[in-house]
Amino acid sequence: MTDPASERGISRREFAKAAVAIGGASAFAACTDREQAPDIPTGPDDLSSFPTRQHAWNDALATDEHGNDVPPRHHVLVFLNLRNGGTPDGDGREQVEAALRNLERTYQRDPEGLLFTVGYSPAYFDRFDADLPDSVGLQQPRALTELEDPELDQQDAVVHLASDYAQVVIGAEEALVGNREELNGVEITENVSGVLEKADRRTGFIGDGLPAENQDVAGIPDSEPVPEDSPLYMGFESGFEKNQASEDRVSIAEGPFAGGTTQQLSKIRLQLQQWYEQDSREHRVASMFCPAHAEEGRVEGTGENLGNESGVGECAEDVIEDASESGVVGHAQKAARARDENDSPIMLRRDFDSTDDGVAGLHFLSLQRSIADFVETRRQMTGDDIAEDTAVGTTTNNGIKRYMTVTRRGNFLLPPRSRRALPTPRPDA
Ligand code: HEM
Repeated sequence: MTDPASERGISRREFAKAAVAIGGASAFAACTDREQAPDIPTGPDDLSSFPTRQHAWNDALATDEHGNDVPPRHHVLVFLNLRNGGTPDGDGREQVEAALRNLERTYQRDPEGLLFTVGYSPAYFDRFDADLPDSVGLQQPRALTELEDPELDQQDAVVHLASDYAQVVIGAEEALVGNREELNGVEITENVSGVLEKADRRTGFIGDGLPAENQDVAGIPDSEPVPEDSPLYMGFESGFEKNQASEDRVSIAEGPFAGGTTQQLSKIRLQLQQWYEQDSREHRVASMFCPAHAEEGRVEGTGENLGNESGVGECAEDVIEDASESGVVGHAQKAARARDENDSPIMLRRDFDSTDDGVAGLHFLSLQRSIADFVETRRQMTGDDIAEDTAVGTTTNNGIKRYMTVTRRGNFLLPPRSRRALPTPRPDA
């Protein structure tokens, strides 16, 4: 096979990204050839020590020098539908659980190996006579602002695969859907293909260097403006420890799905022409963080100097004042208005950039105890109050709204690990 990467003269890491976006057997093979991965440890035979929470990733993640969790670099979202639209039975459930356990034995449960979650949509639960209990705050996805008209994800399930190695996420996807008999030296005897069929896939990456290497896409000007050391296309650090909810805060506290969480997923298209070619650095800092950060020069480069908090907590109270006086409000500043009674953020963001469809994008993946927490945060970020009361427009100078378009939305329940295989809405009944 000709090596497409060397033909186009792209770097090994760039190729890893392209390979994840392409997926499949040949991308996997090319990727294992080119990606200099260490020997990736397999998972244990005995899985009994695995955490209850599927989303308990933070303990497995590395932290940077400031104590921020470092997300895995490569991501695949595999959307699945029940074959024939039927109602799952015990055999199907066992098969799915066996396939997931096979994956857990194939790679160690950390970013060097594989981290994953599986979630189910309201459309999945609709096929049952019973409703989900009130302790689960799942709701149908819908448009959340007047400016958007997203397609709504109605697939039954989504598996989020994440690893620092491209070959791991591609290989895991292939194994899961029945396209591999062996992976990482482990026999793949179980897969979901008899029960579930693949409906869609989305891919992406996050981490220093990756957005710069992948900026040759629609939505980013040809001047290659994305900073070399930026983890995301828009040029700033994200996911500061103090600006994220904890895993405890986003976990469902009671009922049959205690230890689970809800996942909101939006597909966002980025248009960064103006951001990089017309806006000043000061405007970018004001729009992403808050005007005070820009005036006082608080953000150096991508903002690593901020340490483990963006520092927008204080600016959150000044949103209307800033809008009136500076004529601009920051994205993080607005979103930081959504806090609970303990002053904690209510969402845990695990989003990542994407080149899917050949456009610069971001898969905004967030975890929260209830989808209502996402809706509230997004309401604060939308900031209709600001546009009503000040000269700031609904998009112009209103955070980063001008540079993004939400094209899809989906909501999912991530059950606790013990109930992750095709759950019924009332598993205790
Ligand atoms: C276009 C995509 C987006 C980019 C590039 C982006 C980037 C950022 C950055 C750089 C920060 C500040 C650093 C930090 O606190 O970690 C931030 C904060 C935040 N963003 Fe976004 N964001 C995006 C979309 C969204 C969306 C769709 C939401 C949904 C409501 C959101 C919610 C938040 C929240 C809750 C915070 C933290 C605010 C707090 O301190 O509580 N972001 N974002």
